[in-house]
Amino acid sequence: MILLHGFPLNADMWRPQLEQVPHGWRVIAPDLRGFGPASEIPAGARALTMDDFADDVDALMDALEIAEAVIGGLSMGGYIAFALARRAPERFTGMVLADTKPQADTPEGREGRRAMIALAQERGATAVADQMLPKLLGSTSHETRPQVAATVREMIESASVGAITGAVEAMLARPDSTADLSAISWPALVMVGAEDVITPLADAETMQTGIARSRLVVLPAAGHLSNLETPDAFSRAIADFLRSNM
Ligand code: MLT
Repeated sequence: MILLHGFPLNADMWRPQLEQVPHGWRVIAPDLRGFGPASEIPAGARALTMDDFADDVDALMDALEIAEAVIGGLSMGGYIAFALARRAPERFTGMVLADTKPQADTPEGREGRRAMIALAQERGATAVADQMLPKLLGSTSHETRPQVAATVREMIESASVGAITGAVEAMLARPDSTADLSAISWPALVMVGAEDVITPLADAETMQTGIARSRLVVLPAAGHLSNLETPDAFSRAIADFLRSNM
């Protein structure tokens, strides 16, 4: 199983799931292009697209000699999974779509993306963390899980401005994937935190309705970063899905 992280985090966000790998499975969580310690996006590089990130996953699978896998992602990781499903459907035996959505950005959403690029370039990753943290976590986490907020802040603050800019450009240009849902023929687990205000329950329901062999799991007391906010429930849902479908 390959798990793709959300924005503007890195592979460390999957630590709870990497500590609870279902028996008999191998889980791979890469840092996406620009994120994590080993990768930099040079200043002046061309704008990235979701296809670039999808091609990176495809190349990683080649390098690891993995023909097919359960491929999943949270939020931006889900956008990348949709791009890869369009480009290389033969790679998928199953799919995990957590706190994500198939729609493209709205015009207002694109304005917000441009403002975020400006914010990152003028004031750095800390300002991005200040802006995003209130919405990334659910109300329960804000009230009762200060350590999750601290972990997320640390991850965001470690992101380079080049990585933030590259990912935001790719997200704002991403195509709508709604029409592609019906082509997803493999089993899919759709998950959403009940307190997710970025990609709320209605988006998860759209995916569950559109994908024939899918199931929806709503995680109570979790927001957009459901895998970090309620890690045991998230990992359990994955283990149940793998056990009953793979
Ligand atoms: C993410 O968690 O990857 C982002 O919030 C997604 C987005 O901004 O659309």
